[in-house]
Amino acid sequence: MKMWDGRFAKASDANMEILNNSLEIDKRLIEEDVDGSIAWACALYGCGVLSATERDAIISGLEGIIADYTSGLVKFLSSDEDIHMAVERLLADRIGDAVAKLHTGRSRNDQVVTDVRLFVKKQYTALVSEITLLQKILLGRAKKDGDVIMPGYTHLQQAQPILMPHYWLSMFFALEREKKRLCNASAISDVMPLGSGAIAGAGFAIDRTKLAEALGFAAVSPNSIDAVASRDFVIEALSCCASISITLSRYAEDLIIWSSREFGFIELDDAWSTGSSMMPQKKNPDSLELIRSKAGRCIGNYTGFAATLKGVGLAYYKDLQEDKEPLFDSLYQMILVCKVFRGVVETLDVKVDIIGSRLDPLLLATDLADYLVNKNMPFRQAHKVVGKIVAYCIEKQIDLIKIPIARLKEFSDLFGSDVADVLKWNSAIKHRNVAGGTGRDSVKAQMEEAEKMIGKN
Ligand code: ARG
Repeated sequence: MKMWDGRFAKASDANMEILNNSLEIDKRLIEEDVDGSIAWACALYGCGVLSATERDAIISGLEGIIADYTSGLVKFLSSDEDIHMAVERLLADRIGDAVAKLHTGRSRNDQVVTDVRLFVKKQYTALVSEITLLQKILLGRAKKDGDVIMPGYTHLQQAQPILMPHYWLSMFFALEREKKRLCNASAISDVMPLGSGAIAGAGFAIDRTKLAEALGFAAVSPNSIDAVASRDFVIEALSCCASISITLSRYAEDLIIWSSREFGFIELDDAWSTGSSMMPQKKNPDSLELIRSKAGRCIGNYTGFAATLKGVGLAYYKDLQEDKEPLFDSLYQMILVCKVFRGVVETLDVKVDIIGSRLDPLLLATDLADYLVNKNMPFRQAHKVVGKIVAYCIEKQIDLIKIPIARLKEFSDLFGSDVADVLKWNSAIKHRNVAGGTGRDSVKAQMEEAEKMIGKN
């Protein structure tokens, strides 16, 4: 028997039930659903629909459900269509007829979207704190690897020397933007739909402002049609997760490369690696590979639900039930991978000697061109001159650092003995104290800025 079967002469087909039932997914919303119902019972009391006794019976019944749920005592039935119906059925089992007035003025349409908004708000808080923990580890790593000079890459070709902390901080600031996105998305979700009914608004004088306060929402939805139909806040959450997953995936990709034998810049801790069932020597960076893989999954969750949503007119259609699986999944995966990335970064071993030995002197070519610019040569011309010197080094297989001054002078008579000071790793770093650059002072300033950002959280 269904709660809505008054106008039906026949039971649903078994396969229709399987297609329609969403309990397996939405049972995760039990706490939000109960919170929503407790607040709703109070609102119904406020407008005279429930007596104080009826309200109290409902509230203690709902509290009992949560207590049982927490101790693992709640038993769902295969006939429970979704979490809203399940909670109502569980409540009826406890308080009998007193349950019958609870759904007055309310529809599952405003109920479900209220639950989902309550849920995402909590998840945003959890995800933002996970990202902050990861940022703290990155900052710690930046301090620990403070002196390491490494090749900076563009196109996976050695480009210019950088301080390793400069790299770790790049991830810190990228994650700060992800947090900003989450905070914006959280604000968009912080609007209460309850009281909108099925489409037209509840037919009772509900004090929605008080209701929103009780549920911790910042505002009341201004339009009941929009309230029950809108799922752009879900799109927003999925988009935030996709963006986080893409950011994490790119850093995972770098670290995977760095951990290869060919690079050997880092070694992952055993706790974050796996072995091969066949090749005894293997130590694979599966943690990072899985982090990278989640980007495909989160982009899929975003595009999948966006495609579902775009064809759904106003107001509620059952298509909207499909919002939860991708939403729960993306948020869960991102919280998990932040924890994993944190562990990986905290425990990895930086192979300082190997990194030092891989610094190609040609990384200083730009510094050599800048040297000529400082002697008043226009940059384009300096670029050409140094390009020729680089070609000469490659052809003769000599180090840029080791070319005698006399030979350099054949390329340009602007070269003087002071060029030796330029062709040093530390000088290249030192020359980049521009704000945001890889110079030690600049990196120190970035760390201070990062420190301040963390302090705010
Ligand atoms: N399980 C549904 C969902 O998740 C609840 C809303 C059902 N509304 C309805 N009119 N059938 O969207």
